[in-house]
Amino acid sequence: MAAPRLVWIVSLAAVFLGGLLAALPDLSVYPVTGEIFVHELEREHFQDAFPSIHNNVEEIPSDVPITFHAHLLGYPDLPRWLRYIQRGPYETAFLYGSPTAKEKKAGRQTIEVKAYNRHTYETVKQRVIFNIGSSPDEQLPYQAEFFVRNRDVEEVLPGEAQQLFQQGVDSIWDQDDLRIINITSALDRGGRVPLPIEGRKEGVYIKVGSIYPFSDCLMATKSLDNEARCKMEQQIVLACHDRFYPVFIIDWCNITLMDLSSPSTTGPALTLGDGVLEDGSEFEPPTDAPEKTFLYDYLLTILLPLLVALLLCLFLSYIMCCRREGLDKRDMATSDIQMVHHNTIHGNTEELRHMASSREVPQPLSTLPMFNVRTGESINPMHGRYDSAHVPLILDQK
Ligand SMILES: *[C@@H]1O[C@H](CO)[C@@H](O)[C@H](O)[C@H]1NC(C)=O
Ligand SMILES: *[C@@H]1O[C@H](CO)[C@@H](O)[C@H](O)[C@H]1NC(C)=O
Repeated sequence: MAAPRLVWIVSLAAVFLGGLLAALPDLSVYPVTGEIFVHELEREHFQDAFPSIHNNVEEIPSDVPITFHAHLLGYPDLPRWLRYIQRGPYETAFLYGSPTAKEKKAGRQTIEVKAYNRHTYETVKQRVIFNIGSSPDEQLPYQAEFFVRNRDVEEVLPGEAQQLFQQGVDSIWDQDDLRIINITSALDRGGRVPLPIEGRKEGVYIKVGSIYPFSDCLMATKSLDNEARCKMEQQIVLACHDRFYPVFIIDWCNITLMDLSSPSTTGPALTLGDGVLEDGSEFEPPTDAPEKTFLYDYLLTILLPLLVALLLCLFLSYIMCCRREGLDKRDMATSDIQMVHHNTIHGNTEELRHMASSREVPQPLSTLPMFNVRTGESINPMHGRYDSAHVPLILDQK
């Protein structure tokens, strides 16, 4: 009963240990500054190194999904100049980038590449040692950047594709001493991921450099006439616009020409303030900060407000208790009564005055008799508008 389980555990451990230990021999590569460098991570190479492939020779899977993870040894990520791309687990992966003089100063860089078998979860490691050298002419004075619309970045990374592109540029620059300086996915420049429609590509920027000035054809892309056409999204007029067609579709409105031959273009030199770290150095926080007394700050922030609050408190309690007690209660009561008294008299007088004055108000006409019912004699309403209160009680004695 226990035997199959034991075998299972042993084989699991073997796979586990094998996965830990499997490693390909170190590989040295020699990129040079100012030139695109591409390292292909070949799947077949890593696939053969997976332990399980050796364990059961009878059934070698024809195609294994493999993904990679690459990082600078001892660090979680790649150095800044180096990029990694793999479109899918069945595609070739690339490490690519264009080292600068700064990277050359750092010298050797060891990149650790881990390959994962997505079926068995085995891993294989390989160290790739980048020995960065310098090219004879560090910076090519004339550089042009093309935007290729119908390619993804990994499609132009293989050597043949680069050659094909270079031939196209050769023919428009009228010379054959060009170098590809940099290749950048449009996504790294803020481009958008295209819709998943057949034939739509991310696009890629390819920078080419030369020691010879730009050809007339390249200069023509920057003519006023063509710039105006680009603004209006019209077809640009160019003698050489079909040199890449149909392999590469170039956005002729998006060509950047950089003339680094005259140093005046660099502008005023940067003046760095202090506090800028030197390359490769690390920030060291000061270990012993100078002693500082916080007594005055303490007094100011805690004691002063407390003191003010205390004073206010005392003042308020004095007003609330002592001042009120000091006022004679009897005095207060009499004055209150006097007040009420006065008000009552005043109010009553007012009321009487009002009542008296309202008697002066004429009676409404509608309440007056228009004629005497018995005599039929009509009475002038205006005449009889005195109410009885105004009729003299003792009539004129004639
Ligand atoms: C190459 O392109 C990348 C991405 O745009 C950029 O970060 C890098 O500085 C470029 N390298 C050179 C040498 O121009
Ligand atoms: C041209 O390039 C710039 C930046 O390099 C980008 O913002 C712009 O969208 C590009 N234009 C076209 C038409 O692709």
